[in-house]
Amino acid sequence: MAFTYFFRDLHTLEHIAKYLIPSTAGRSSIRIWDAGCASGQEPYTLALILAEGMGRFSFRNLQIAATDLDGSNLFGDVIAKGIYPREEVERIPTEILQKYFKALHNGSHFQIAEQIRSRLAFQKHDLLSLSPVGDNFSLILCKNVLLHLQPAQRVEIIKMFHNSLVPGGFFATEQTQKMPAEVGQLFEQVTPDAQLFRKSEAITSL
Ligand SMILES: C[S@@+](CC[C@H](N)C(=O)[O-])C[C@H]1O[C@@H](n2cnc3c(N)ncnc32)[C@H](O)[C@@H]1O
Repeated sequence: MAFTYFFRDLHTLEHIAKYLIPSTAGRSSIRIWDAGCASGQEPYTLALILAEGMGRFSFRNLQIAATDLDGSNLFGDVIAKGIYPREEVERIPTEILQKYFKALHNGSHFQIAEQIRSRLAFQKHDLLSLSPVGDNFSLILCKNVLLHLQPAQRVEIIKMFHNSLVPGGFFATEQTQKMPAEVGQLFEQVTPDAQLFRKSEAITSL
């Protein structure tokens, strides 16, 4: 099972919320791609943070495409049900847990509320296909995935992400992942505090 957990790298997710929410205000469709989502803890954490920050009406316009290679063939089912064992939800702040999760089986498991689950759709997908799962994304999140790939593959994947974003859309990766020089001109770093980038307006593609 891939290594991941709820509220991992909260620092980056909070920066995403800070910049993404105002940039999507008033949009009737807000599309996000979480590439390499593993068993869903990351896209669900993002959805929970956005549910808190966006307000009910904007949140209903959100769609998160959660994708992974999914060698285990389990992720789709886990994400659709949104049921996780107690040990996994213990990292979630108590007020969020109480607001959005329901205890099952005498508290040994917890299920995420339908209002959150309905925002996520899982799809099996290999980033190395270089074929995006959609377009006009306001945000593409790809954390702790690119480090496993060859430098040339990273460059091609980041170009694909660039082409799949709306003008001014965001790309976020983990703190230790640097933007390769070959694609540096496609994005501007939004803040020195996180690997969060905005699609440059001037360049359409490479
Ligand atoms: C360490 S997990 C990261 C999960 C989550 N993004 C996080 O940061 O907590 C890495 C995930 O990348 C996925 N992955 C690896 N190569 C991939 C590829 N070529 N296409 C899509 N997903 C891939 C793995 O299946 C695994 O679930």
